[in-house]
Amino acid sequence: MTGVVDRPATHPAPGVGAAEVTIWEVGPRDGLQNESAVVPTATKAAFVQRLVAAGLPVVEATSFVHPKWVPQLADAADLLTALAADEALGDAARDLPVLVPNERGLDRAIELGCRHVAIFASATETFAQRNLNRSFEDQFAMFAPTVERARGAAMRVRGYLSMCFGDPWEGAVPPTQVVASGVRLLELGCDQLSLGDTIGVATPGHVRALLTAFADAGVGTDRIAVHFHDTYGQARANSYAALEAGVRTFDASAGGLGGCPYAESATGNLATEDLVWMLEGLGVRTGVDLDALIATSRWMADQLGRPSASRVVQARS
Ligand code: HMG
Ligand code: MG
Repeated sequence: MTGVVDRPATHPAPGVGAAEVTIWEVGPRDGLQNESAVVPTATKAAFVQRLVAAGLPVVEATSFVHPKWVPQLADAADLLTALAADEALGDAARDLPVLVPNERGLDRAIELGCRHVAIFASATETFAQRNLNRSFEDQFAMFAPTVERARGAAMRVRGYLSMCFGDPWEGAVPPTQVVASGVRLLELGCDQLSLGDTIGVATPGHVRALLTAFADAGVGTDRIAVHFHDTYGQARANSYAALEAGVRTFDASAGGLGGCPYAESATGNLATEDLVWMLEGLGVRTGVDLDALIATSRWMADQLGRPSASRVVQARS
């Protein structure tokens, strides 16, 4: 086809034009944890390698959770062993973040030499029970020694917080409850807090209000990442609102893969390609090679046997 526009024209927006952002790629973890088909370990390793090669600065590789709870990621140790043996990745394989819910998960990560872990909490009682088999209060008791030991081992620790904008069982989640939960994760020793819209119900004004509530509690956007799922088609608008408010770390999933096995109403994450397209158009630097990323998502869609959910991948196919 001639005359095709394969890149957005650059039109910086006031206040965000000179920004540089970090895209935290969650496709191999948040994406593949939700696939009904078992993806071979070698395919997962190739996915991670291709994402790193496409310039994604952070690629979350897998989870050290109970294999009965998330069988899709039961091969976490084999995957990390394969990645550590990859010449192109080398020692950097140890910096790929992995999820750990508890000390048992941390032990497994330490055995494999991981240097970057993420715990994952819930802002609501019901999701804490469904996702972690713990009460809201007991989840902190599970995380406290996990984070303490990880910090003691000089690891970086991210704290995810789910259901920040709504919960499928409890409905609206008050910002005060979200802020109080997030502050507790930071007080445990997490170096970054990722605010999850697990079921994709947030809208831009809600994002701004929650970030303002965190700022009022003394938590600035320098310690916050945003994690939007696109269930209601709002993930890009929400990302823009967060960008305007000063957030500089954005979670996204190549090809829009994803969901959460313990929140059925969650669909895929914001597609990384769609985020990169918007940011490039705004003149915001990401370091990501969009063509290489699109090729990776097309390849992954072939492996999974269905088309990519990313609008940019679809438009460029
Ligand atoms: P539990 O059954 O309460 O575990 O599960 P337990 O502590 O009672 O232990 C029972 C047995 O499991 C023991 O073995 C443990 O050793 C073993 P036994 O002594 O009976 O032989 N065990 C483990 N084995 C391997 N790895 C482990 C582990 N822990 C215990 N880490 C648990 C509690 C937290 C483990 C379970 O609920 C679990 O694995 N949950 C994970 C659920 C999950 O991964 N959800 C998806 C990720 S969260 C998400 O997607 C949201 C996010 O994207 C942000 C957003 O969108 O909002 C992050
Ligand atoms: Mg998620």
